[in-house]
Order: sequence, then structure tokens, then C-alpha cells
Amino acid sequence: MHSFKELVQQFEDRLNDTLPFPQELDTLYEPCRYFMNLGGKRVRPVLCLMSNELFGNITDDAWRAALGIELFHNFTLIHDDIMDKAPLRRGKTTVHERNGLTAGILCGDVMSIYAYDQLAHIKTALPEILHLFNRTSIEVCEGQQLDMDFETRDDVSIDEYIRMITLKTSVLLACSLKMGALLGGATESTANKLYEFGKNLGIAFQLQDDYLDAYSANTGKQIGGDIKSNKKTYLLLKALENANMLQQSAIRSLLQRDDESKVDAMLSLFNNTGADIACREAVKHYSDLAFECLEETAVPSTRKAHLHELATYLLGRDN
Ligand code: IPE
Ligand code: IPE
Ligand code: MG
Ligand code: MG
Ligand code: MG
Repeated sequence: MHSFKELVQQFEDRLNDTLPFPQELDTLYEPCRYFMNLGGKRVRPVLCLMSNELFGNITDDAWRAALGIELFHNFTLIHDDIMDKAPLRRGKTTVHERNGLTAGILCGDVMSIYAYDQLAHIKTALPEILHLFNRTSIEVCEGQQLDMDFETRDDVSIDEYIRMITLKTSVLLACSLKMGALLGGATESTANKLYEFGKNLGIAFQLQDDYLDAYSANTGKQIGGDIKSNKKTYLLLKALENANMLQQSAIRSLLQRDDESKVDAMLSLFNNTGADIACREAVKHYSDLAFECLEETAVPSTRKAHLHELATYLLGRDN
């Protein structure tokens, strides 16, 4: 069995050896290489590999799936940065800022096709794997659209927010785990339990991502980007729910503003309404649900130790 650190290292080595972009047409492929090599936590491929390793040695199919998933994830980030008008990612300039909008759009497009090209090598249960991956990709698009629609709505409920983050973020973590399990020969019910683990982990992960967007200086992203774009995050929705009349109108008037002091003013309102604490409690709630699912997964607990560690690290991170 391998730890998170070991699998990240092995994954990076494979990526270096097999990164599929041709050494030509630099305007298209150089930004792809740039982005894939920026690092990133590699959470999704490692979830896939760890879940595969629950059932035996890591298979070639699982490595293909892991590469495909990470390529797909990076494609969604490049397009997400266009949609969110983000200048920074992983501490470096985003592709559309560095190489222009066309490069951002096309690098994303071509990376998603290279992701499918990795999956095409899979020899076990390919129709089922593809169906799961396609369903997940459609859901990510739906979640991303809802995220954008919510920017201009002022009546988003917490339930709608949870549905949106389930779609845009958590299903890909869930899919990574389920793919690894299916490729390792897991039963459908064990694979589904791992999917539920990933779904709850993913919800906690996105709640944490929203929290860090507001409060951490270590994300490698613009500080307060979500506040600047009026993202309907858990922090904002809870602040609105908990606010008194005066705080309500202060939040609503900040949502109309676009100046330098908006982020600090909004952060004070998050703190004064207890939204920061509520958000941390919500992370805890969904992590507890995730750990219950992992507990219920029909595999000896010693084999699950590294997944447990990875989930614990993810939810305690500051980047
Ligand atoms: C960022 O994902 C997008 C979200 C779903 C929050 P990660 O935080 O996994 O990004 P990298 O790959 O480590 O940069
Ligand atoms: C992105 O969510 C989710 C996907 C890329 C599908 P965010 O917009 O919150 O991710 P970051 O904060 O830019 O990484
Ligand atoms: Mg974003
Ligand atoms: Mg986004
Ligand atoms: Mg974010």
C-alpha cells in the first residue's frame, strides 16, 4: 500500500514520461505543458489509485484512469479561470492571462480530448467506466453553469448551493474513487460506497475551498476572488441568513460595489455574523459523513488507512 506522498511522486514520474502533448504547434501545446506542470495537489488521480489499491496491486488501467482524470480536471480549471476571470492559479499566471483567450479555450478543449485518449486504453469494463466518466463530466458542466447563474441571483438557498458544489466539484472526486474501485474488481455496492465517500468528501473539500478563498493567503489564487465576483458561497449565504437588519443591508449594498475595500468589509461581516464558524462546522459535518462511508466500505480497515489520511490532510489544508 502506498501513501499520498508516494503516489503523488509516482504519478508525477508517469506524467513526465507520458505527457501526451506533441513537440509542435507551441501556441497550443506549450500552455498545456505549462499548466500541467504547475503542480497541483493531484488529489483526484491519487484517490483513483488508492481506491484501486484497496483491491490489489495498482493496475495499468488505473494509471490510465488517473492520468485521464487529472487531464480532465486541469481542463476544467483552465476554463474555470476564464469564467471566473482569475489572474492566478497555483501561484502562477493563468493560461488565458498568459497566452490569451484563444489559448485558454483551445488548451482546455484539447486537454479534455487527451483525457479521453487515456481512457481509451482501459481494458476492463470500458463501457461502464466511460458511462460514469461522461455522466460526471456532464454534471461538472451543470454545476459550473449553476455557479455562474448564482453570481447574479440574490435568493440562492443553502440547499441549492450544496447541489451546485456537488455537481461542480464533488462528483469528480466520487467518480475518481469509483473508477479506481471498479478497475480493481470491486463489487458494485462497494464501488458505490466509495462513490458516496467521495461525494461527501468533495462537498467538504469545496466548502473548505470557499473558506480558503476568503481567509487564506496560501491558495496560489487571488485573495477574495469569490467575494469580488459575488459568488454565492456558503460563507455569504450563512452571513445573509444570520445577519440582523443592519448587517443584511450592509451585505446587500456591498454586493453592488466593486472597489478595493469590498473584500475586507465583507470579511468583517462574515466574522460578525458567525458565517466563518458556520462554514467550518459544515466542513466538519460533511467530513464526518465521508468518514462514515469509508468506515462502511467493505474492505479491511488497515487497507483504508491511506485514504483516511488523505481525507484528513485535505480537510486540514490551507492551500
Ligand atoms: C480546485 O481543485 C478546484 C476545486 C474544485 C476547488 P484543487 O484544489 O484540487 O486544485 P489543484 O489541482 O490542487 O490545483
Ligand atoms: C471550480 O470551483 C470547480 C471546477 C473547476 C469544476 P472554483 O471556481 O471555486 O475553483 P477555484 O477556487 O477557482 O480553484
Ligand atoms: Mg474558480
Ligand atoms: Mg469557478
Ligand atoms: Mg474556489
